Amino acid sequence: MKLIILGAPGSGKGTSATVLREEFSLAHISTGDIFRANIKGNTPLGIEAKSYIDKGQLVPDSLTISMVEDRLNQDDCAKGYILDGFPRTIAQAEALDEMLSKKNTGIDAVLSIVVDDEEIKARVAGRRVCEKCGASYNVNFKPTKVENVCDLCGGKVYQRDDDKPETVEARLKTYYKNTQPLIDFYDKKGLIVEGDNNKDSQICIDQIKEGLKAKGLI
Ligand code: AP5
Ligand code: MG
Repeated sequence: MKLIILGAPGSGKGTSATVLREEFSLAHISTGDIFRANIKGNTPLGIEAKSYIDKGQLVPDSLTISMVEDRLNQDDCAKGYILDGFPRTIAQAEALDEMLSKKNTGIDAVLSIVVDDEEIKARVAGRRVCEKCGASYNVNFKPTKVENVCDLCGGKVYQRDDDKPETVEARLKTYYKNTQPLIDFYDKKGLIVEGDNNKDSQICIDQIKEGLKAKGLI
């Protein structure tokens, strides 16, 4: 199964993708996580990406598309994958179509995660992430058992640089301008499966699974 998970910053793409990747043995490709790993490793890609991410802007398509193409060619993607945070522009979506049609394949469904902006701002303000394994927590909704220590691996839990309120505003604006049009793009192809993540994330997962079932994918 080849899936895209689409939604505003902080809507729960990572949270939902983590559950789905385990349940359906999918590779989880988060472009944000790949950029953050490059920033941490101080690579040329990381240094360039950081200048955009810190302002809540998109990293240019030229860098992002080739990075995803390389990732999709890795062996673990053969079993199926979930793309989290890509595509984010119509140009990226068209490039993805082209990459996949070269392999005589395509995306099976696009999971559209819906959450109100005010809820997003509250969640992102409380989000903490493990620097070692990437697990996501929230000081208000899903705290770690021991303060600032990951429940899963014991790594240090930190707040992302781009989770400051003013950067979150910029990220939301970028989302509405560049990424929201993709919902219509994929709706026209009949690929959208919606998940409402305003309440418990299990409700959202259940809705997504119903949608995948209706499409005969699971
Ligand atoms: P990226 O890392 O993709 O960030 P994002 O899209 O802004 O999304 P987030 O990771 O912040 O949120 P999420 O939807 O994964 O939510 P989460 O599950 O963590 O990208 C970062 C940056 O990289 C971009 O701004 C851009 O600059 C660049 N970039 C990345 N991809 C790019 C591309 N393709 N092109 C160009 N640039 C690109 O949940 C959020 C919080 O809510 C967590 O604390 C979680 O525990 C909590 N939560 C989740 N669900 C619930 C619930 N139901 N109830 C209560 N709390 C919940
Ligand atoms: Mg994420």
